[in-house]
Amino acid sequence: MATHTITLIPGDGIGPEVTNAVLRILAASGVSIEWERHDAGVTAFERTGRALPATLIESIRRNKVALKGPVTTPIAEGFTSVNVGLRKSLDLYANLRPVWNLPGVPSRFGGVDLVIVRENTEDLYAGLEHEVVPGVVESLKIITERASTRIAEFAFTHARRHKRQTVTAIHKANIMKLSDGLFLECARAVARAYPDIRYDEKIVDAACMHLVMDPGKFDVLVMPNLYGDIVSDLCAGLVGGLGVVGAANLGTDIAVFEAVHGSAPDIAGKGLANPTALLLSAVLMLRHIDEGQAADRVMQALGRVLDEGLARTRDLGGTTSTLGFADAVCQSMPT
Ligand code: NAI
Repeated sequence: MATHTITLIPGDGIGPEVTNAVLRILAASGVSIEWERHDAGVTAFERTGRALPATLIESIRRNKVALKGPVTTPIAEGFTSVNVGLRKSLDLYANLRPVWNLPGVPSRFGGVDLVIVRENTEDLYAGLEHEVVPGVVESLKIITERASTRIAEFAFTHARRHKRQTVTAIHKANIMKLSDGLFLECARAVARAYPDIRYDEKIVDAACMHLVMDPGKFDVLVMPNLYGDIVSDLCAGLVGGLGVVGAANLGTDIAVFEAVHGSAPDIAGKGLANPTALLLSAVLMLRHIDEGQAADRVMQALGRVLDEGLARTRDLGGTTSTLGFADAVCQSMPT
């Protein structure tokens, strides 16, 4: 059996807890992985003076794959976001977030099966802000033809490969006629090359309303960075919350898998976090490295635990600890 070398960033807050749980489950799945552990964020900053150490970037460039726990970003001060920095420096231009109902997970809706494709490198996340005069701040929204075309291509390719029917571009081009207008122009041009996939467009505010009324109608959604950030948390809320949605940051040849949620300081260190979100990201990772059988085994075990209610963390109404949940998944692993 081949051994994969993969970079591991446990992160901070609940990061180390959910990471430990996921490593335990991956070990039980039979896949052979050698982990290269690296700190990022506060832990790395305190030790090295850099929140995103060069050794970490080098490790991911070398291994091409990483599994990442959440990393805290100080609000309105301190170092710039490690997550944004990582995505920019490795050109992880596509953020993929499949959102669907897991068996046995209480949620507001059934029949949700959608995919969010979020542009990951520009928009207001370019971080170009300055004070014009005291009391007036300017923040630049960058939208380029290159990035918009590339993310639309990604969405349509993904739709075709996964036999999906519709790609919906989410925008606010009625107000931001130039920037979101360019995004739409690029999406339309790409759509013309995929006549087998239906293409439509929705203004972001209306899309949010439709999502919380009838999410089953949505298929693949492609959008600029900021809308993607907001809409993906909204969509997580449709199927049980941030604890049950996985994600991948993908570039041309590098992939970093992480949960949608953050470091959850309110529950950190208490063993209350649900490791399912990071586990689902790890399952995406297993498929990415051609370990489909291990991925299927993990999904069977997870499905059984959730469906039969064998263990449930607090966010899903249970009392099982993070590691207790991992143990239940390990015990349900098919032989
Ligand atoms: P958050 O996602 O950390 O937490 C929001 C709420 O969801 C909290 O009530 C939390 O307890 C709950 N929650 C999150 N993950 C959970 C899990 N696995 N199990 C059970 N409950 C869970 O968002 P928040 O509080 O806005 O951000 C906290 C920090 O995380 C910030 O510094 C933020 O910048 C950072 N962050 C990092 C991300 C990353 O590393 N990719 C993504 C989002 C936020």
